[in-house]
Amino acid sequence: MKVARIRPQPPPPALPRGVAGPLLRWYARAGRDLPWRRSPEPYRVWVSEVMLQQTQVERVREFFVRFVTAFPDVRALAAADEDEVLRLWEGLGYYRRARQLHAAARRVVADHGGRLPRTAESLRTLPGIGRYTAGAIASIAFDVPEPIVEANSRRVIARLAGFERPLDTPDAEAAVWRMAAALVPQRNPGRFNQALMDLGALVCTPARPRCTDCPLAKACVAHGTNRVDSIPATSVRRRVERIRETALVVQHGGRVLVERRGPGEWWEGLWDFPRSGSAAKGRLLGRVAYSVTHHRVECVVRGCRSTPRFRTGKNRRWVTPAGLAKLAMTAPGRRIAALLKTVAHLW
Ligand code: ADE
Repeated sequence: MKVARIRPQPPPPALPRGVAGPLLRWYARAGRDLPWRRSPEPYRVWVSEVMLQQTQVERVREFFVRFVTAFPDVRALAAADEDEVLRLWEGLGYYRRARQLHAAARRVVADHGGRLPRTAESLRTLPGIGRYTAGAIASIAFDVPEPIVEANSRRVIARLAGFERPLDTPDAEAAVWRMAAALVPQRNPGRFNQALMDLGALVCTPARPRCTDCPLAKACVAHGTNRVDSIPATSVRRRVERIRETALVVQHGGRVLVERRGPGEWWEGLWDFPRSGSAAKGRLLGRVAYSVTHHRVECVVRGCRSTPRFRTGKNRRWVTPAGLAKLAMTAPGRRIAALLKTVAHLW
């Protein structure tokens, strides 16, 4: 019988001690003033952390305020229409997050009396809440000493411990989580976790970190051994794949045809103009280029007139220009809609 061989991994390096005190003092002085931090109710922490999963803090600021103004609590979000939720998410990308947040709000109302569960374990049973988000909500909203690891704190922890391996493997990820768990204090775990993220964003930056301003410089193994520039180690980047496509602006009687993206497609649930093979005919209206995951897409936009022979329904509609503005659209769909405004003969 063949026995599976387990690759031996070196244990993660020991962590320096006494990190929490200086870090929390630094955070009190230099931490960022962010809208969800001003009143960190569980619902607001949850919404902010879901938005922050794949989006930069500066971009999340304005979206967060708009979203919680429209849906100030979990019941308001649960009662909303999915289209309305997606429309307020428009521009943040990764729309699956919005759909899962909405579904989870409904579950919180139906199964938890409208209150978010307090433990990371039960938070993880909700749609869209993984290890990171559960740890963030539990620690920030409920003061449970749970670790979190995201891009900024991952780098801080790696440098602090002198962890030399590239961080994008499952083994390294597990090791960093173990180190984060060993670091998080029993008192003020939420502030500690946010402080680690801020330190990574403001001081312990990927390039040219400001070690002279760092409250942890004395404890930091990478700093002490002159390896700050080589930790974390970089690994080879994924190649960008180029794609060509044609978007069709099908017009009839002052309206255009739009379709909703289906399951498994990019921007699932959002509206866009239909796509066709690159041999599609029609008058050239313009081009848009956009990036999605590791793809670079060159999209040719063509217009044609049609009879309303298309079957319309939940996922396909004829809309007026004003109607386009009210739809939750994909990023390229929105760019194509903007392009149409410049093509006067269309309407
Ligand atoms: N990135 C993810 N969550 C964050 C938070 N709560 N504060 C700052 N940056 C973050």
